[in-house]
Amino acid sequence: APTTLLTERIVLTGFMGAGKSTVGRLLAANLGWNFLDVDSLIERHSGTTIEEIFATHGEAEFRRRESAAIARSLGARNTVIALGGGAPEEITNRLLLEQTPNTTVVFLDAPFAVLFDRCVLQEGAAVRPNLQDPDAAAKRFQRRIPHYIRCSSHRIVTENLSIEQTVAAIRAQL
Ligand code: S3P
Repeated sequence: APTTLLTERIVLTGFMGAGKSTVGRLLAANLGWNFLDVDSLIERHSGTTIEEIFATHGEAEFRRRESAAIARSLGARNTVIALGGGAPEEITNRLLLEQTPNTTVVFLDAPFAVLFDRCVLQEGAAVRPNLQDPDAAAKRFQRRIPHYIRCSSHRIVTENLSIEQTVAAIRAQL
């Protein structure tokens, strides 16, 4: 049977490379919950890749689709939800996260250099549109930190934690 908690959904936020999808999948399996990846939801709904949405329609249109996908995902229960790295930049998304009851938002934090290295090591890193220019990515990172903090209730520094240890750290806070 799935684990029963006061919280109905756990949302993972943080920059690209924070481990939102990897940690989220393991956490969900651990709890016997479902897992939703908002980037995948957007791709499924649009019938194309994020790279293609950025290239064809631009970032503003991507953000509109992202907000719609987040709104849909927050209806799910017993679900771990991995946001895209830029989601909390939009005030509508932050408000939605704050106003959805029984929702725990966890900020997975690590220094930019660590995140950047993780992304570069990952297969498919080259297709993340907002990681093409390292200087611009570093600026985005700085700009987003207050937003990640503002919309989350817990912050976990993952720099020296394995995936398993990160999952355990989240569970210890629930
Ligand atoms: C983005 C992060 C990506 C994806 C898109 C834009 C960003 O999500 O939503 O490429 O602006 O930080 P991940 O954090 O899952 O890579």
